[in-house]
Amino acid sequence: MTSQPDPLFRPLKIGDIEIRNRVAMAPMSRHRTALSGVPTDLNVEYYRQRASAGLLITEGTYPCALGQGYLFVPGLVDQAHVDGWRKVAEAVHGEGGAIFVQLMHAGRISDPLILGGELPVAPSAIAPPMTEPYDSPWPKPKRPYAVPRELSHAEILATVDAFAASAVQARAAGLDGVEIHAASGYLPMQFLSTNANLRTDQWGGSIERRAAFLLALVDAVAAATSPGFVSVKLSPGWQFNQVDDTDPIATYTYLVQQLSKRSIAYLHVGNYGMAWDVYGTLRPLFDGPMIFNAGFHRAAARAAMIEQGADMVAFGQHFIANPDLVERYRNDWQVTRPAVATYYTQGADGYTDYPVYAECDPATLQDPDLPVNPIMP
Ligand SMILES: Cc1cc2nc3c(=O)[nH]c(=O)nc-3n(C[C@H](O)[C@H](O)[C@H](O)COP(=O)(O)O)c2cc1C
Repeated sequence: MTSQPDPLFRPLKIGDIEIRNRVAMAPMSRHRTALSGVPTDLNVEYYRQRASAGLLITEGTYPCALGQGYLFVPGLVDQAHVDGWRKVAEAVHGEGGAIFVQLMHAGRISDPLILGGELPVAPSAIAPPMTEPYDSPWPKPKRPYAVPRELSHAEILATVDAFAASAVQARAAGLDGVEIHAASGYLPMQFLSTNANLRTDQWGGSIERRAAFLLALVDAVAAATSPGFVSVKLSPGWQFNQVDDTDPIATYTYLVQQLSKRSIAYLHVGNYGMAWDVYGTLRPLFDGPMIFNAGFHRAAARAAMIEQGADMVAFGQHFIANPDLVERYRNDWQVTRPAVATYYTQGADGYTDYPVYAECDPATLQDPDLPVNPIMP
């Protein structure tokens, strides 16, 4: 250890709140919510256990019924959702933590079976090619994707309004802010992508037009709440969920410059194995806190903060298996390896039953400065 203060444990102001350290929990869908999308007591316990993170970013949460991409994921649409999320927010705040809810509209990555028979919606009526085996361990359909229905201009505006209304619900639930999920090939990234958005109206074509949907979401949520209540997650150039961009550097350079003008709480950027220098290109363009994500361990996070301008680092799989991750990092304790098989199963197993350090089986432990698993979506 150097004599310098550890960059991971300095407080940080994001939006209107101050958080107590720079160890964020990355958003992770765990598929353990009620079928109604209402967070359960088990979900409350999961987030409460992890509340020593400087910031918890929740699993993807649908802002409107057509945005739901999977079963057993949460929503933030009606009063029952608000009441469920309020219990989560109160539990996290009771431990001195902070929590942003990730608003996720799956767009064409949904299925009529999940949407009560409705077709999924998308910028253009193009189904994602199904390249993975149907027995993939990921929560993918076990059959080809449906051809989605192209959103009309009026429906795009209604979707923007739905995000704003959901953000207002987030504030009513006592959450500290929202993160707009514009990564991983879901609806906002479908608009950004050259292979999923073939529109010829104001929402497609040039970079400016492909970026218009996401910027409209940010502006609408900021107007309905406040700029400091809004944040965005990007995965520049990542082809997950079969999106593609013929020139991601140009697209994301423009987009980050535009986001930088908006005084949002933070920008969350995931580098999912790109060959180009994602952080080196985009960090200088954004005037505000930036979270780096994907594939970090403690030593890599410290280096990213000292050398690459990360203000905060989000850890995913480390947080699945280590409810007390912050304490382990701070005390130089070993970390528990996560069990991939229970990422998306039901119940407490592999969810709320990971022990704190003092109760760990040494055989499950590893050095905190080593990678956990390959990057997972
Ligand atoms: C089980 C699981 C679920 C995930 N769900 C989401 C999600 O809902 N929203 C999102 O933005 N990223 C999601 N991710 C990606 C993580 O936020 C993170 O980028 C990824 O796990 C890589 O970081 P890590 O190496 O620290 O785990 C998920 C990852 C995992 C492992």
